[in-house]
Amino acid sequence: MIDKFGRNITYLRLSVTELCNLRCRYCMPADGVCKKSHTEMLTEDEMIDVVKAAASLGITKVRITGGEPLVKKNIVSICERTANVDGIEEVCLTTNAVLLPQYAKPLRDAGVNRLNISLDTLNPEKYAYITRTGVLEDAMQGIQAALDAGFEKVKINAVLIGGFNEDEISSLAELTMQYPIDVRFIEMMPMYDSGDFDETGLVPCAKVLEVLPELQIVNASDGVAELYRLPNALGNVGLIRPISAHFCGTCNRIRVTADGKLKPCLHASTEYALKGLSFDDMKTVMAEAIYHKPQWHGELDTIHRSRAGRNMNEIGG
Ligand code: GTP
Ligand code: 5AD
Ligand code: SF4
Repeated sequence: MIDKFGRNITYLRLSVTELCNLRCRYCMPADGVCKKSHTEMLTEDEMIDVVKAAASLGITKVRITGGEPLVKKNIVSICERTANVDGIEEVCLTTNAVLLPQYAKPLRDAGVNRLNISLDTLNPEKYAYITRTGVLEDAMQGIQAALDAGFEKVKINAVLIGGFNEDEISSLAELTMQYPIDVRFIEMMPMYDSGDFDETGLVPCAKVLEVLPELQIVNASDGVAELYRLPNALGNVGLIRPISAHFCGTCNRIRVTADGKLKPCLHASTEYALKGLSFDDMKTVMAEAIYHKPQWHGELDTIHRSRAGRNMNEIGG
């Protein structure tokens, strides 16, 4: 469906849970989330209705997000049913990889086409610090499990954080020399209550080009990322710049949260409640929300924090 600014909306990010087995400092508070009652959250059947309604309005790609989607007990069934909805051509999932040794194969068998994996550092102590609870080796085994299960075009997401991982730009990018994967650096988005980072934490992606002048531009479009490549690499290096060069003009996505709110824009407070609606009403509300998708997300920096009114784990990125 085309919105009022002429953008073709074809991509739904569906968050299946706000919960996570990690506590990344830029994403969620140390004490986790206030668990909402089951009755407030979408059921599996309601999620599939959301996907069907979205597909009937022209959505062809669904990315399953969280929190951490793999902590959801019925995740394989959700993915399988999503992949079987008429009109859905691609099902992707974003994960911290910790549970992939157990889930990579079942997800692939369920019809998941691609995985994106969050990994901000290759240093075990720093990994434990940024995730507050995580063990680097678990994530590394998860990445290997994704490759072993036959997933292609695996992408690593590394949030760039000043004073934390600027010194690892080369080593993270080097992963593209060893493995057939993309590594994408992401400018940190200041959310409602995402930790203790001040402006020194916000590093523009231009820093990556400064550290790695040998990067060559790749002229291919890849959603929100600009693509580059190290000479002789097996995968690309991507730059995702929501702060220094927002990409709202070409945005093709909507989001539905685990508690059933449709967010036409990541950083706007506007939400449309879908839970409890009949299928036809769901479609009507969705069409209205898509049509009125905001033109852009407005100023975004440490002073003008996101107006989303939620932390990232409650939206799904
Ligand atoms: P592909 O399907 O591989 O293109 O994945 P993706 O980049 O759409 O999804 P992923 O979950 O890997 O997100 C990567 C980063 O981009 C995360 O930090 C997201 O928060 C961010 N991101 C995704 N969509 C948007 C968007 O519409 N606006 C902004 N500002 N950031 C986004
Ligand atoms: N800014 C940028 N990216 C973020 N992510 C989570 N929180 C933020 C933030 N504040 C990323 C995660 C994950 C993806 C869905 O969003 O690293 O890979
Ligand atoms: Fe969990 Fe991902 Fe948020 Fe980290 S960034 S706390 S892994 S949802």
